[in-house]
This record gives sequence, structure tokens and C-alpha cells, in this order.
Amino acid sequence: MTSELSPMSAADWWRDAVIYQVYPRSFCASGGTGFGDLPGITQKLPELRKLGVDAVWLSPFYTSPQNDAGYDVADYCGVDSLFGTLADAEHLIQSAHDLDLRIIVDLVPNHSSSEHEWFKQALASPPGSPERERYMFRDGSGDGSEPPNNWQSVFGGPAWTRVVEADGTPGQWYLHLFDSTQPDFNWENPEVWDFFDDVLRFWLDRGVDGFRIDVAHGLMKVPGLPSLSPEDLADIRPDAQKPYWNQEKVHDVYRRWHRVLGEYGPDRILTAEAWVWPLESMAQYVREDEMQHAFNFAYLATSWQADNVKSVVDHSLSAFGAVGAPSTWVLSNHDVIRHSSRLAMGALESVVPGGLGPKSPEKPDPDVAMRRGRAATTFMLGLPGSSYLYQGEELGLPEVIEIPDDKREDPTFHRTNGERYGRDGCRVPIPWEKDAPAYGFSPSGDSWLPQPDTFGDLARDQQEGVEGSTLELYKTLLRLRKAEGLGRGELQWIATDSPDVLAYQNGGITVMCNFGDTPFDLPHGDVLASSESERDGTLQPGHAVWIQSAATE
Ligand code: NOJ
Repeated sequence: MTSELSPMSAADWWRDAVIYQVYPRSFCASGGTGFGDLPGITQKLPELRKLGVDAVWLSPFYTSPQNDAGYDVADYCGVDSLFGTLADAEHLIQSAHDLDLRIIVDLVPNHSSSEHEWFKQALASPPGSPERERYMFRDGSGDGSEPPNNWQSVFGGPAWTRVVEADGTPGQWYLHLFDSTQPDFNWENPEVWDFFDDVLRFWLDRGVDGFRIDVAHGLMKVPGLPSLSPEDLADIRPDAQKPYWNQEKVHDVYRRWHRVLGEYGPDRILTAEAWVWPLESMAQYVREDEMQHAFNFAYLATSWQADNVKSVVDHSLSAFGAVGAPSTWVLSNHDVIRHSSRLAMGALESVVPGGLGPKSPEKPDPDVAMRRGRAATTFMLGLPGSSYLYQGEELGLPEVIEIPDDKREDPTFHRTNGERYGRDGCRVPIPWEKDAPAYGFSPSGDSWLPQPDTFGDLARDQQEGVEGSTLELYKTLLRLRKAEGLGRGELQWIATDSPDVLAYQNGGITVMCNFGDTPFDLPHGDVLASSESERDGTLQPGHAVWIQSAATE
């Protein structure tokens, strides 16, 4: 660890930070439950320090019935016993700080769990009561037996569930844009605003460095909750316009939270999970008085094609630049097909929300997947701005396709009767040691999702110190990126004589990536990092390199 490179000292550390997403249930289990936990994460923090990231974002570990893997929160200030205790969370935060790693936690403000005390009170209280006003309760349409409108859950099926009133009669309906156990809060109610101020302060008091805001484009709904047209109803793409996404008033929430974070100093951050298009709309979330980061889903959703990648990079730099924010870059997370697999597939638009499974019509070729996955990261980590990595991508893990139906947990799979496989394939517990139980994930050998045999050779201990491994590639890229200050640099495209080869210069580094099918002659110069393990003076299809810039002139 080199203290002069410590990100902890700068208030604007986030402008060029690399943030690593830990999905707690699948990272490392210290006990025998088959689920990862907070002590397991703390134990492995030194590995993340060695990898060279600046911060860790933890997906939810709060008290939850786990109907949506913790994105259904029953107590925002409690730790689920599955993951440990509040003392474990505090110890994790302190241990991370001791290693110069910042900690970002998840905040889920669009909905709570139906097990949340407020929702239980709402169910026990009559229509029109203050308790019901904290959520989106409405009378049904017609004689009350039909939902108030035709909105559909993101996970499939209706977005409304009818309750049984205290006297045993069928009653009102409540809105849930996700699972029926995730009732939407009523953000028109000031009590909800006050409640979340307190939640922010609770975790800020415990030293967290920021929050990743779940469904940041939700929260506010169009008044009157109008039904959708049949065309809009049929459109399940994450970027489709809907009367419950991206309403102007949602920005007031983030302006307020910006001020709450400001009470704790200038260096705390908010990251928007906002599936909004175009990038100019997404950039509204990172205006100076709102958040610091927004996940760049336009970049994530771009297919393996040179001109598409070039144009999304340009568009990102200009849209975020226009509001004075850094662009972020991200390829994988716990909601999408892992990028190594995804980039080896053609029909991208249909696979992103659907996931992959044994009966999927198109499956990625594992070699192409591994190649492109490594190249895509090599291309991304040279870009100016901040990047997000998802646990396991540094090992080159692919999407796991062969998960038996009865092991799948994602509500998407169950709410669509298996029509959409959902997101379990990117959530399989990660391998640490080839020859240990559950590949070193859990001492008992239990794993909440089955791990495939291919995880053995991809385990961290098989890659550590091995030249050409994906793990060593990531370490090299992250080390050079920091040493050369690429996150704060400027991108200049360099013309190549192939439409399939992109090249850009950032400071002392030239990054080249071959998106085509034919080898490309590399310019002379020192290759500092390469997604290819063997090199012969050409850039092979599906590969990327970093070259010392001066040598290309
Ligand atoms: C986005 C989260 O990333 C996803 O995992 C979750 O299911 C939904 N929001 C609902 O909270």
C-alpha cells in the first residue's frame, strides 16, 4: 500500500475512484449457513486493497425477509442475522478505513419490505389513516375488485395487491413496483422524508462514506397514477418511459440528501441507480447540489461494436461534463448478465432483463466471452472518470447458466413462471480456493446457489501471481491507472485504419481495442498491459492493450 496514493485524504476522491461492489450473500461466508456475511467480508478486505480499488459498495445487509435478496428492507438500521450484527457492520467500516478503503452502503427508499413496522401498522389501520398514508394505498377500480390502474411490476405480474381489512373483508390495494412484499412508499408524505433523513444520519454516524441509492428514478409518481397505453405496457425495457420513473420532483429529495451528507463533511457521496435515458437525463442526478455519481447504464448496455462504444463514451463525457460531474463506467452488477458472457451475445436488448438459463435460445461461447470480458475491462479502466467493478469480474467469472429451477431465488423467475430466468446467474457465490469446500466461499461447503465446476480453475488462488491471469490483469490496470492519474485525465481519440479498432490516448497511455474479426498490427511501443496472454506484435480480435503513449509517435 502506498500512502501517497491514498484516496482517503481528498474531498473529491470520488472523481476518479474505482469502487468494487460486494454482494454480501455471495462474497465470503465465515459461518456454515451457505450465505456470505459481514465478518467474511471484513476478513477479505485486504484482498480488495491488494486488488487496488478505492472503495467498496455493499449491497443491502439490513434486516429483511430476503424476498428480493435484501432489497426488501424490514429495518433500515438493523443488520440481518443472516449477515451478522450491527457491531460486525461497525467493525467492517472501521477495518476498511484502516486499509484506506471507503465504504458505500445501499439505501432502498422506493419501497420497504412488507415486514417493515410501518407497513404492518398500515395494514392494521383503516383506509385514510395516517399509517396508510406512508404507502400508496388506493381503492380498487369498478366495484373495488380490480386494481386501481394497469401498472405492472418490474418483476412481472400486476403492481398492485389487494389487502384484507381488519374486519376480514377484501379492501384497498397497495402499489409495489417490484415484488408484492415490497410496498412503495408515499413520497408525497413529509413523514417519509424525515424518516430517510434519520436513516442517512444513522449510517453516517457509523462512518460510512456514502450511499448507493436504489431505484433513484422511482419514488415520485405522476399524480393521479394514470394507466399505461397498451404499447407502453408491453415495453419491459429498463429504459422505457413510465409515469413512475424519473419525475422532476424526485430531484428535490436528492438536493435535501446532499445537504444532510454535507453535515458530515465534503467527502460523502450519493450514487444514483437511475435507469433513465438519454444520458442528459441521467446527468440531472449528478448536478452540483444533488448526487456525485450515477451508474452509466448506457455504457453497460452497449453492445460489442466499435462505433457504438465510441459514441457512448463521447456522449457520456459530454453529458456528465456539462453538469461538472465525472462520468462513471460500469460493465457488471448483481442485476445484469455478467459482462464477459453478455458481450459475447448478439441479441443484447432481449437478454439484459431476462437473464440466462438452460433453455435460453442463445448462449455465449465461453472463449469469446472470456476474451471480450477481459478486453472490455481493459478498455474501460483507461477512461477518465470513476469506475465500478462487480465482485468476481476480476476472476473472469461468467454468468452461470445451469442453475436448476428449484434453486433459483430471483422473484423475477417466480413471478414470470420461469419465462424470465432473472438474475441468479450473476449472483453465484465466488470462488477463493480451488481445493477448499465451496471453493473457499464457505467453510461448511454450503452455498445458497450451486457453484459450477468451472469455478475451480477460476478461483482466486489459481490466479494470484500468475502472469496473464484475469486477476493479475485487473491488478496491473488498476495500478497503472492510479500511477498515471488516468481517472483525472482527458481522452483523445486516435484514428486507426480499421473501423473495428478503437484507440484513445489518456495521459501517458494509449488504449487500443479490437472489436473486429481480423488481427490488427500494433504500433511499436511498450505494451504495459494486455488482455491477451500471448503477444506477437498484433492486436488479436476481441483483445485490448495499453501501450506507452510516447512510443506510438
Ligand atoms: C435495483 C436493485 O439493484 C435490484 O437488485 C432490486 O431488485 C431492485 N432495485 C428493487 O429494489
